[in-house]
Amino acid sequence: KGWHTKNLYLYQGHWYPSKYLFSIANVMGSQETFQANPTDIYLATLPKSGTTWMKALMFAIVNRTKYKNNSLSTHMLLLSNPHDCLPFIENEILRTNPTSVVENCPRIFATHTPYTSLPQSIIDCSCRIVYMCRNPKDVLVSLFHFANKLRDDSLGPITFEEAFKMFCEGVTPSGPYWDHVKGYYKARLEHPTRILYLTYENMSADTANNVKHLAEFLGYPFTKEEEAAGIVEEVVKMCSFENLREVNKHGNIRAGIPKPAFFREGKVGDWNNHLSDEMSQILDQITKEKFHGLDISF
Ligand code: A3P
Repeated sequence: KGWHTKNLYLYQGHWYPSKYLFSIANVMGSQETFQANPTDIYLATLPKSGTTWMKALMFAIVNRTKYKNNSLSTHMLLLSNPHDCLPFIENEILRTNPTSVVENCPRIFATHTPYTSLPQSIIDCSCRIVYMCRNPKDVLVSLFHFANKLRDDSLGPITFEEAFKMFCEGVTPSGPYWDHVKGYYKARLEHPTRILYLTYENMSADTANNVKHLAEFLGYPFTKEEEAAGIVEEVVKMCSFENLREVNKHGNIRAGIPKPAFFREGKVGDWNNHLSDEMSQILDQITKEKFHGLDISF
């Protein structure tokens, strides 16, 4: 079974491809070698939950003073892709001493690894984690399109019916979807000050207020003067879907994935254009059962 690669493999209850950044080997390797620092911050997401957007926002927030006196056109986000600004730990295992591209303390990394499979040093130390999740139907639709952009020609395109079936069975990169969300959600209940739990839907509905909240959590709160000067709105605008899509019209990121592949619709509810009523009801039912007793909604 597979999405953009032929096969996914089950490891510690979650599915991983054999190649690309989030390969089973890289996840195992990061468990063995990655050393977290207490001052680190991690962005954790399931693929297609808004990782690129959050990377951009976190990078823009912590670096905003660095770029203050330059014109926006020199901002690193506008010269490269958010994935080149803020690395995944699964990619960093190849380096002996990973340092985040963000020069100032704290180091900021991203990961798609489920909470229960994170390198032990991340679990044990008091570092902070931002978890961003998205409603399962939009994740499915986004993953379906992304997989077809990346699929080897020899495999042919995946149909939406096939994608739907695999998603419902929990067979998605770093999935099952519901276990990934539950893992971080429950960890947040245990460590409420260490883990910030965000949803793509909330972020879309009120980006500015969420950005302020995120900045506080990261330890880079906006001052009253900055707010009055419109810096929050500037960050929101710079990281907007339209802006990032325009900047990333051409080229590939380090992993060889075309930059435009990360920017498709950028909307809440595009699943309405893909799922039949029956599919929608099946996913609702699975989600209800899997999230039973938990206050998780989108
Ligand atoms: P769609 O395929 O629904 O458009 P990830 O970054 O985790 O791979 O997620 C990709 C999804 O986030 C895609 O969703 C993409 O369009 C959307 N996205 C990327 N940048 C965004 C931004 N700045 N604002 C909102 N959504 C964004």
